Amino acid sequence: MVNTIPELYREYRKRLEKVDLIEKQLLDTDNQAEWTRLLLHKSEVVRSFYQETEKELNSLINPILYSEKPLDDETARQLYECAYDYFNNVICDDVLESQMFVRLWKHYRDCGDEFHERSCRCAFSNNAFLNVEGNLRKMALDQVEWVAAYVEKIDYLRRLHKGDRVAFFKDVKRVLETLHSQYEMERSQFEPNVNRMIDCFNRLSKIRKYRGYFSEEEWEQIEKPLNEVGTDVMFMAALNWNSVDKQLKEFIGPAYPIGFIDQTKLPVEQRDTKVYVGYIVYAFYSGLLKPEQTFTLLRSYSRSIVKEYDFNDPNWHEQPADSRFAMMTTTTKPMFEMIDAFSCDSAKKKRMKAELLYEVKTYIETIPRECACKEYLDQSLYHLLYDLIAFIDDDAMAIEFIDSMIISRQMATLIHTVMTAKLSEAILDRLVDAHPEMFLTVMGTDDPAYVTAHKKALMTLMYNSARCHDIGKILIANIINTQIRRLSDMEYSYIKFHPKWSYEILMRNRLLRPYAEIALGHHRSYDGKRGYPKYFDNRASKYNILIDLLTVCDCMDAATDVFGRNYMRGKRFESVIAEFHKGAGTQYNPDIIAFLESDKELYREIEELTSEQGRAKLYYHIYRQYR
Ligand SMILES: [Fe+2]
Ligand SMILES: [Fe+2]
Repeated sequence: MVNTIPELYREYRKRLEKVDLIEKQLLDTDNQAEWTRLLLHKSEVVRSFYQETEKELNSLINPILYSEKPLDDETARQLYECAYDYFNNVICDDVLESQMFVRLWKHYRDCGDEFHERSCRCAFSNNAFLNVEGNLRKMALDQVEWVAAYVEKIDYLRRLHKGDRVAFFKDVKRVLETLHSQYEMERSQFEPNVNRMIDCFNRLSKIRKYRGYFSEEEWEQIEKPLNEVGTDVMFMAALNWNSVDKQLKEFIGPAYPIGFIDQTKLPVEQRDTKVYVGYIVYAFYSGLLKPEQTFTLLRSYSRSIVKEYDFNDPNWHEQPADSRFAMMTTTTKPMFEMIDAFSCDSAKKKRMKAELLYEVKTYIETIPRECACKEYLDQSLYHLLYDLIAFIDDDAMAIEFIDSMIISRQMATLIHTVMTAKLSEAILDRLVDAHPEMFLTVMGTDDPAYVTAHKKALMTLMYNSARCHDIGKILIANIINTQIRRLSDMEYSYIKFHPKWSYEILMRNRLLRPYAEIALGHHRSYDGKRGYPKYFDNRASKYNILIDLLTVCDCMDAATDVFGRNYMRGKRFESVIAEFHKGAGTQYNPDIIAFLESDKELYREIEELTSEQGRAKLYYHIYRQYR
């Protein structure tokens, strides 16, 4: 029995580790019967953890988060200590923790405890930046504006701490950390605005004026991250050289070769990757190197790096930037850009891209599958996917790449997308034969015979869309993988972005573009009145009928899944159909539902696919294939 907030945290963490352990056993087990037993065991364990955690959160945390009642000092202290200690260790619910910090800063503000108030506002923004969009991000940005002012109020902070040097230094460091996070947030945009990043860096650098206030050791601690941001901003400017402001170009351009020459004097393993690679890329964009030369330099450097990332290290994101993982996420995009700029024929380009992609895929497959809660990993992989998908000019290859990304973080999502694709394929196969007229708009014709004649293309469109529809979830894997408690409201609001993210990814590639709108609409209701994203009108879409079908299959898989979903046991097939029947005309397309109910053979086929045995078979197959 858990009685205090720190105990709750400890217990919660242990539970997550236990689930990870079973997941690892699943990946290591070959015997199918034993494997199925383990899978069931896993869902039982997850379910019971869910109930316990839920009870504990309801008694210890939720009353604090959701009530207006003032906090007592001891509760605030416990909450503060846990939220602070654990958010660096990624207990995988950053959004929940963000909520705690909001609650806490209001508490400290009301108490007039300025230091703790500032510290919680800082922690809130640091936490929220990397993980949220929409209102929460806006709120985090507001806090930064509030915090940033203190970089120039160092004298005030000194007076406030009345000679307590430790507290003063801590306070300043947190202010700087927040500005650093703002930089990281700008950097994490899919199309980073490098001029804004330079602004952030300049703002952070204002602390240099107050060098004299700090001891030698304190200054070292301040200067190190400052220099790191400096190097990074140069690197990012090189990668995005064409969008750097003209004046800034003139100002920072001359610094590149100097850093580069210094680096070449060092042995490879001692080089600073960002300085070294930054120059190479800069040299290409400013016309000093040809694409072939740039490619060769990048290639040989990235191949010379053999250091492995330890994904199991809790502080893994602090590992050095010259590991293979960091190398892959930073140099692959420029390498693809170079291939595109080559003067060779397109067949050779295609071959080179396939080779490069294969290397990336192979590396991604080495990421331990059971590392469930790693937000930095989610970020890096999503960016990698976003960047690279644009260069792939073969749709089978693109989908294969998407698959490897999904499985690296969420085996369950891959299984879900395969199941959804199988269901939609089964229904569509019969629906086209019986009612070709339903597909006139999507096929752009007035003639039902045309639809029948092009059934294969339609099936491929549907199947591939279903396979890609949830790729946006990779950005929130750390939330979704948290299966042992109810999602908080903020987390849920964040999850609602996933169709938009899927859409953005798919739109990046010419061949995947037709699937983008179908993915975007898959959480909208048939009548267009409910679901998300609100701005998307599924009924006006050319793909409306396929969106409706995907919605049905998506819900069907979720509702009947006895293994994957935590909060409810998979429902019986008839009751799922009864729910569809009830929602026909509002939530679901009534024609599709009526067809499902009338075609007995189809009904049985789907019942079989979604049954416990059918599902166990699919789970086993996918685990074997991708472990
Ligand atoms: Fe979804
Ligand atoms: Fe889905």
